[in-house]
Amino acid sequence: MTTPPHAKDGLVPLFTAAEIQRRVDQLAETLDATLPHGDILCIAVLHGSFVFVADLARALSVRERHLAIDFMSVGSYGGTTTSSGHVTLRQDTTLPVAGRHVLLVDDILDTGRTLSAVTRMLRERGAASLLTCVLLDKPSRREIPVRADVVGFTVGDVFVVGYGLDYNQRYRNLPYLAALPADSLTRQEG
Ligand code: IMP
Ligand code: MG
Repeated sequence: MTTPPHAKDGLVPLFTAAEIQRRVDQLAETLDATLPHGDILCIAVLHGSFVFVADLARALSVRERHLAIDFMSVGSYGGTTTSSGHVTLRQDTTLPVAGRHVLLVDDILDTGRTLSAVTRMLRERGAASLLTCVLLDKPSRREIPVRADVVGFTVGDVFVVGYGLDYNQRYRNLPYLAALPADSLTRQEG
């Protein structure tokens, strides 16, 4: 048997695949009770949320929720673990947003720059309503006062990888969430 990546790279497991699945199911229940009736446009922020949104969308389908799914890619990290402070739109959505009930899905709410920039953008485009859902929240790192409507797990000031989240494009395909030890991080401001 091959050595699991967390043992090799010193990753510290945070949430197992089973724990994540249970939580995703609870989130779907909350969203089902909170989202407006009718068709929903789900917009996932790439790349970090690709695993989460796939599970969340399927958990919502069990509840007979009809979702259109679209993606946008925004950047601020550029291979480091510290937000560069401004958010750039790398890839835009393809479906019209005006008049739609939007569910915005992201992997992790850190400084708040991404969520605040993206929600402002979607409001400017005339979304009829907007509900935000993040898998992870790191409130201790907040620089912009923004909160997500629905949160999976709250974590401390640790760098999280797995289940879609990366460090230098690695670990996205781990089925669980883990913390990368501080001595593995190349801290770079800017
Ligand atoms: P914010 O704009 O600082 O809130 O950062 C949000 C984005 O930074 C997330 O969507 C992630 O892509 C990335 N990010 C922040 N913290 C982490 C982490 O612990 N692991 C992996 N990516 C992170
Ligand atoms: Mg992201």
